Amino acid sequence: MSRCESVDFATLPVHRLDFSAPPPAEGFRPLRPEFSTCWKKGRVLREVGANLAGCWYLAPQGNLAAYINLLADRLTLELPVLEGEGIRYRTFPAVKIGLLAADHRAKGAGAALMRWAFLYTVRELCPRLGARFLTVDAVHDPDDGYDLADYYARFGFQHASADTQPKSGEHFSTMFFDLKPLIEAAVV
Ligand SMILES: CC(C)(COP(=O)(O)OP(=O)(O)OC[C@H]1O[C@@H](n2cnc3c(N)ncnc32)[C@H](O)[C@@H]1OP(=O)(O)O)[C@@H](O)C(=O)NCCC(=O)NCCS
Repeated sequence: MSRCESVDFATLPVHRLDFSAPPPAEGFRPLRPEFSTCWKKGRVLREVGANLAGCWYLAPQGNLAAYINLLADRLTLELPVLEGEGIRYRTFPAVKIGLLAADHRAKGAGAALMRWAFLYTVRELCPRLGARFLTVDAVHDPDDGYDLADYYARFGFQHASADTQPKSGEHFSTMFFDLKPLIEAAVV
């Protein structure tokens, strides 16, 4: 992306989307076109306007390069993973990464927003409400082999199900990340 060449996304400010004033998204082309369509056709804006999600974005020179949505979630696991802490639940409050997309020429923008989402969740959300896990439905497209599970695994996400393959008919795998070590590191 010529407009993003030599941009260090890790140092750019992350803006919260104000649904009444979205940044222009001309030339915004993530690897999966549906993530551009849902921005350009207004789905992201409608969901933010309806308070179903918050959206944050990177926009070098004012033009959309990447965005991420966060929303409230409930994570269900097969095992009582917090039994060692005396908690036998299998469902837990969580914060979900609903959408994540970066222009295919904006190298590093996705990772910058992922790092921002970890920090924002730990510093701003977890002190205010119970949210032990970060979750994501990693896209898996059997038609063309596109699979983001390994991408999220690089950040430390684990599969929510012992069967790491998506259930029949589903085009995603639910993954989760335990925020507790980050929460504890943030308060010391
Ligand atoms: C997923 C996405 C946001 C990543 O953003 P990005 O800015 O291109 O990439 P990042 O800087 O975050 O990460 C790049 C690294 O991830 C790796 N990576 C990218 N896709 C991957 C995949 N499917 N599996 C494993 N690793 C992957 C790259 O090889 C690169 O590795 P490197 O740093 O060792 O060179 C972007 O590719 C995108 O918008 N995809 C289409 C929309 C989408 O699938 N969204 C996710 C919905 S769950």
